[in-house]
Amino acid sequence: MSTPAAEEADAGNDLETSLSSASLRRSEERSAEIEAQIARDPSGFRVLSGDRPTGNLHIGHYFGSLENRVRLQDAGVETLILIADYQVITDRDGTGPIRERALSLVADYLSIGLDPGKTIIFAHSAVPALNQLMLPFLSLVTESELRRNPTVKSELAASGDRPMSGLLLTYPVHQAADILFCKANLVPVGKDQLPHLEQTRVIARRFDERYGRAEPGRPVFPEAEALLSSGAHILGMDGEKMSKSRGNTIEIGMDATTTAKLIKKAVTDSDRHITYDPVNRPEVSNLITLAALCTGRDPYEIAAGIGDGGGGGLKKLVTEAVNERFAPIRARRADLTADPGYLVGVLRDGIRRANEIAEATLSDVRTAMGMVY
Ligand code: TRP
Repeated sequence: MSTPAAEEADAGNDLETSLSSASLRRSEERSAEIEAQIARDPSGFRVLSGDRPTGNLHIGHYFGSLENRVRLQDAGVETLILIADYQVITDRDGTGPIRERALSLVADYLSIGLDPGKTIIFAHSAVPALNQLMLPFLSLVTESELRRNPTVKSELAASGDRPMSGLLLTYPVHQAADILFCKANLVPVGKDQLPHLEQTRVIARRFDERYGRAEPGRPVFPEAEALLSSGAHILGMDGEKMSKSRGNTIEIGMDATTTAKLIKKAVTDSDRHITYDPVNRPEVSNLITLAALCTGRDPYEIAAGIGDGGGGGLKKLVTEAVNERFAPIRARRADLTADPGYLVGVLRDGIRRANEIAEATLSDVRTAMGMVY
């Protein structure tokens, strides 16, 4: 039996799902247009993306999003990379060894080819003016709007019986501050993050309506668009979602021997004849996809080449492909981690540049709000 409240919630969910499939299509079309525009002229874009410092980045991150960030940077798009250290405490009480993890992210970023001369790498806890945007932004959203946010709902569900904290409830607003402090107009995301982008646009629009402009004719904040990732989706070695907590990841910085051991333990199936068939043979096909991504070869061709070589033949090929592809990245990473002073320097320089940008934006906000003293 369902209560009226439950029915209302269900109706809300249906509405959300149908809306999101239509808006997903629109976002996909728009992402294709944006890619074409970047190829013509990258100068109109500023990209912000980021990660929580909760552990080392893995090859799922690499093929799913990191490689794409390097591509955008190299295409000439101005890029900021956020280490979302405050966001770590949205769904857990402690931060873990946060400084070490932040510096490890910096090492990951630099080793894959993000260039600190071009790209600003910073931690948002170190940018006071960014965090100050939370205050006016919080005045522009309602509690029920935040409770309905699909990512807040799923994070709450994932945190077990942990009660909703004020920070978890308001973290979409903080994420809006991350994006808007630098007036980013492009955010590379997976489709699960689309509600955040919508919330960010709503905040930008409402700020304009309620508090006005720093200069006539130009809103303080642009409307940030999603750039849906065209990246591949790699599963973990057990065939489940690749995630640190499952222990099924291959980290970018892992050595070749550990990589070989992990791939050796990977789940396959009982059919010795190797074929590329993502629907019926997800685990085998995931390994083939990984080899294809690492080598640039066609997955069907790879499968045909292994033929009756079985799981053993497949794993041998995948191990070689991964280790070869990541060897230069790992060598760079080893050099970088041998020089922690350099990594700290890169982060501090990024923080300094992020603070300059944030101060300029906060100054526009103060002007628009009439709070210049
Ligand atoms: N939420 C992102 C994650 O879970 C990190 C993040 C924080 C982010 N603020 C952002 C990503 C702003 C894009 C834009 O990893």
